[in-house]
Amino acid sequence: MSYSIAIDGPAGAGKSTIAKLIAKKKGFIYVDTGAMYRAIALFLIEKGISADEQDKISSAVGEANVTISYENGEQIVWLNGRNVNGLIRTEEVSRMTSQSSVNKDVREKLVELQRELAKKENVVMDGRDIGTCVLPDANVKVYLTASSHVRAIRRSEELKAKGEPCELDVIEKDIIDRDYRDMHRDISPLRQAEDAVLLDSSDMTIDEVADAIINMCK
Ligand code: DC
Repeated sequence: MSYSIAIDGPAGAGKSTIAKLIAKKKGFIYVDTGAMYRAIALFLIEKGISADEQDKISSAVGEANVTISYENGEQIVWLNGRNVNGLIRTEEVSRMTSQSSVNKDVREKLVELQRELAKKENVVMDGRDIGTCVLPDANVKVYLTASSHVRAIRRSEELKAKGEPCELDVIEKDIIDRDYRDMHRDISPLRQAEDAVLLDSSDMTIDEVADAIINMCK
């Protein structure tokens, strides 16, 4: 039986940094499910489909083949045979992802792929619905959060490091809007699973959070 650690929480709580670190320390595979939703959003943007065209999204999603592979521990997302890692982190894709991920057909397709991965490998999987929907029997479940202000500061530092212009209050507003959409959608809204441990990373270092989760595995 494979072992699974599910980490859910809002954007910018530090899920991916922490999940990657835990995966490295435990020799598990890190599965970034947000990147899969982002690849689908990129596909829709490139097809000229807008977020409010839910019927078109449902029929187009069958043409999007998303797979993942690993290179030096990094997850690579392939969209119809093309490595899209460098294209899915823009603000435009973030906004589209938050809207296209409410679509039932998009979710069904990706949840199936995520469950298949967790069946084959020991995984640290992060997302919004891992503990509540994708892996309800995960061995360890964590709901990782931080204040929207701390999350906006983290995001703006990431963007600055990439040389992208940004304004803190715009980023914070975007984060609050995205949280609202993620938490209030009909299918698999973001929420803490009943058996998940709540961790607030606002005043914790990355290592402190990672160690706390690794201790839960013992
Ligand atoms: O974790 P992220 O910021 O890369 O996620 C991008 C968007 O994808 C986010 O707005 C919500 C959506 N998402 C989701 O609905 N379910 C997941 N398991 C992961 C991400």
